[in-house]
Amino acid sequence: MYFGGDYNPEQFPRDVWEEDIRLMREARVTLVTVGVFSWSRIQPAEGTFDWEWLDTILGMLHDAGIGVDLATATASPPPWAVKAYPDILPVDEHGRTLYPNSRQHYAPTSPSYRRLAGELVEAIAERYAHHPAVVMWHVNNEYGCHVAQDYSDNARDAFRRWLEEKYVNVEALNRAWGTAFWSQIVGGFDEILPLRTAPYSRNPSALLDFKRFSSDALLDLYVMERDILRKHGVTAPITTNFMGPFPGADYWRWAEEVDIVSNDVYPDPNEPFAYRSSAFADDLMRSLRPGQPWLTMEQATEAVLFRPSNAPKSPGQLAAQSIQGIARGSAGALFFQWRQSPRGAEQFHSAMLPHAGTATRVWQEITRLGRDLSELSLTGDTGIGARVAIVFDWHAWWALESADLPVSIGYDQVSAQWYDALHGLHIPVDFVHPESDLSRYRIVIAPMLYLLTERGASNLTSFVESGGHFLVTPYTDIVDENNGFRVGGFQTLLRDVLGATSVEFGALALRADDPGEGGPGESEAPADGEPGEFVGRYLAEQLVLQGARPRARFGHGRRRGEPALTSNRFGDGVGYYLATLPSGSGVETIAAWLLAEAGVDLPHAGLPGTIEIVERQDSIVVLNHGAERVTTALSGRDLVTGATFDAVDLHPNEWVMLAPPARSEDADSEQTERIHEHAEL
Ligand code: GLA
Repeated sequence: MYFGGDYNPEQFPRDVWEEDIRLMREARVTLVTVGVFSWSRIQPAEGTFDWEWLDTILGMLHDAGIGVDLATATASPPPWAVKAYPDILPVDEHGRTLYPNSRQHYAPTSPSYRRLAGELVEAIAERYAHHPAVVMWHVNNEYGCHVAQDYSDNARDAFRRWLEEKYVNVEALNRAWGTAFWSQIVGGFDEILPLRTAPYSRNPSALLDFKRFSSDALLDLYVMERDILRKHGVTAPITTNFMGPFPGADYWRWAEEVDIVSNDVYPDPNEPFAYRSSAFADDLMRSLRPGQPWLTMEQATEAVLFRPSNAPKSPGQLAAQSIQGIARGSAGALFFQWRQSPRGAEQFHSAMLPHAGTATRVWQEITRLGRDLSELSLTGDTGIGARVAIVFDWHAWWALESADLPVSIGYDQVSAQWYDALHGLHIPVDFVHPESDLSRYRIVIAPMLYLLTERGASNLTSFVESGGHFLVTPYTDIVDENNGFRVGGFQTLLRDVLGATSVEFGALALRADDPGEGGPGESEAPADGEPGEFVGRYLAEQLVLQGARPRARFGHGRRRGEPALTSNRFGDGVGYYLATLPSGSGVETIAAWLLAEAGVDLPHAGLPGTIEIVERQDSIVVLNHGAERVTTALSGRDLVTGATFDAVDLHPNEWVMLAPPARSEDADSEQTERIHEHAEL
């Protein structure tokens, strides 16, 4: 179990290092990430390296039995590099250069940056590839966090090359981008520019390609560094820290290139359902490489500093959120950062060791968590056996963001609503790509799968054909991979599965003070039927049924009496079409109904939604995220203390990991049979 955090010894005098090591041992730290922002300290001038300090601290850590996740230090180019090679600097959408004095001020496609970063990584790898302290490698840091898209001249040249490789000839690009519209026909790749701010709406196909290119440009940089490490004989796992549902990088693609997925998670303690947003990110990370552990690389111990109001975590919350990640497959709990920085832009950011020292609540909680984790014995079988999956696809997200839609609505927001509803019902969820193997799922939900490829559609179709329950929402199967409409209307690929198509989106008015939350009259679309009553927002699509059965109808407004929710038998399964985007409680209503339709039991009916239960093969983890003490009917042996509970009783932010009850194969097959029987009814 990894426990520790980012460690920046270069910010402190050496006598502090001794104390750091002593306190790390006291806290039972097992892993620290060193060197993330150390480029100027390692390489004070081009061609000059100062290794002495890094040799010393790596040696000290190793002597103390603390492992190192060694960074390649490329995330913040030093001042000398910018002075000598100003083309390193990125440019924003408005054509403004982003200057130094902060971090991540590099254009991923800048030849100067790539050369200098490559040379730095060569030097670090040569020196430390076989260092016994180094048990993991940390390439760069949070790729794209501040500069997800760069619009520099370097990006322009690289974008042209990327497009030429993709389309080969410019006629193909013109067709894909629909450039006959608004006189955008290009005569050669050299006429293409990055998608900078324009007088009015930009070409949605070009915007989509620019987002793909930008994700690929960052990934290419990662691969460059990783390959240098490998060339020098690095055998320890190589990673770079992801950021949950981050819009700038297609993590399905990225996950193929890292040895272990790692993630940074910063839920806002001011948000009452912050624990659901972190669970969402955790499950997304777990799903990127099914069956493999991943790692919480960063989280805060207390307050962050990048929000307008940076609330501290409540007592016990740092442990609860760490355990939440571990429950969902993380191989440990790491924090940003070990010791609070006395200077620099993150002075106010919390740390494992606060400015005020060890006589603090944070330190007490950190040492307690370190002790608990050191005593925990898990077999590491993180399988949670989800029967329900949510489709999450970056290309659909990018396509939605690039188009001028009937109503604008955040893809991640709607996905989160479905995830939250299922979390509140204690239903384990995997995220899937449209082309993932879906055979283990009973239910697949596709919120706003706006862009759908033929391969994705055929995978989803086979899922339903062979008995799956598949629900879509508005904005599903609208565009092809170029962000253009297919001939013949909408749902051209899924209409047989759904037995319905939409012919009009029925945009609802948004309330000016609360966009998207719905208000009286036109901005809401109440509907009711078998699932019960629910309120739709944003859209009330007009469906034309081609075999589907209405299960709920709109109650008033322009769609009064028309279908709001339909189902359609297809092969051995069912396709469901929800024609509006319900409010949070509406999503809960429909999710519960769908589970019942598909014969999936609610495993812990009656437990408050603030209690989180993760049932893994090797443990059952129970957490109380609520403000009240809760007594559950759960019993078992505590994997940390060995104590036995008759009824798990948890105060706010308390958690317990129980040994799983002995499970018989008969019970598993009984459950499968029961589900099949139910579905026949
Ligand atoms: C990110 C970065 C860290 C630090 C934290 C602050 O996760 O990777 O270097 O800036 O944010 O929360």
